Amino acid sequence: MPPPSLPECRVRGRRLPSPLVFAPLSGVSNLPARLLAREAGAGLVFTETISARALVEDRPGARRKLTTDPGEGRLAVQLFGGEADLLAEGARRVADAGFDWLDLNLGCPVKKFLRAGAGSALLREPAKLAPLFRALRSAFTETVSIKIRLGWDAAHIVAPEVARIAAAEGIDLVTVHGRTRAQQYRGRADHAAIADVVAAVPGLPVLANGDVRSPDDAFTLLRHTGAAGVMIGRGAVGNPWIFAQTLALAANTPCPEPSAAHRLDTLERHVAWLAHVIDDPDARTAQVRRYVAAYSKGLPGSSRFRENALAEACPDRIVALARDFLIRSEAA
Ligand SMILES: Cc1cc2nc3c(=O)[nH]c(=O)nc-3n(C[C@H](O)[C@H](O)[C@H](O)COP(=O)(O)O)c2cc1C
Repeated sequence: MPPPSLPECRVRGRRLPSPLVFAPLSGVSNLPARLLAREAGAGLVFTETISARALVEDRPGARRKLTTDPGEGRLAVQLFGGEADLLAEGARRVADAGFDWLDLNLGCPVKKFLRAGAGSALLREPAKLAPLFRALRSAFTETVSIKIRLGWDAAHIVAPEVARIAAAEGIDLVTVHGRTRAQQYRGRADHAAIADVVAAVPGLPVLANGDVRSPDDAFTLLRHTGAAGVMIGRGAVGNPWIFAQTLALAANTPCPEPSAAHRLDTLERHVAWLAHVIDDPDARTAQVRRYVAAYSKGLPGSSRFRENALAEACPDRIVALARDFLIRSEAA
């Protein structure tokens, strides 16, 4: 059988280095995670979602989320908000900070967002979206994309309509998470519904998103939807190798599971970057725990190791135990 192939994803005439994209993930897709995703072959990475209001008011939390590094290449900055004027001003701030890709969040189902008329609340009245997209388009000269869910609930599937409005207003790319707001994260992403969006906007690149946990899932999602690329979120957390493995399969080259030594090297670099970008000790410890757990997953004895290591309070001690465990695993 021939190897599964990957599409080309062209946005404003520019080809993404690969059609595999690392998703915006609040509390997760910070600089270290994005750098590792890029290194493994993600063709584009997104920031965590940033409040347009917080950015316009120049709040430190929002400013920190714009921290980047030349190593991560092109970075799509995602904003959320419910008001066109504020979003447009946020977009100008993003441009002033030197970024060339702006993404609007129309998918987040969290109550705090909905109360502000942001995230998936914006899907409730598609008719109001044209002026909002227009405001963003005129505020930001480079790439503007949107990220949507299928609709508010199963009785109100609006994704094809929203994509058509976006295309008409000059938006450059649409990402579709194949669930409704009502589903939150339950059920499975609906491939046929994503395919309907792809069919609705033939000239516009669409990224398909939802439940990709393995290279096979990525190829299946692409086959079922005809999308120009795949966005991967949870499946890449602590598993940046999913990008390399998918690219290797498409290139018909071997790509074994990462060795314990490779996992250790990744963990060491990840922890060092975390120290640079996260000031809050509790937040940093939470990230160390998450990634020590993730990078040890699947190795013999790893459940027992996690039980012991994660019972420790001190992040340095947790990393030291992980180092010992991974060195022993490599030698075994
Ligand atoms: C912890 C977490 C944080 C997320 N944060 C964002 C976000 O900031 N912006 C956004 O558009 N989507 C966000 N999402 C949604 C993801 O980008 C993605 O659409 C969803 O998880 C489905 O893809 P997956 O199955 O590959 O994870 C988040 C999801 C999770 C689980």
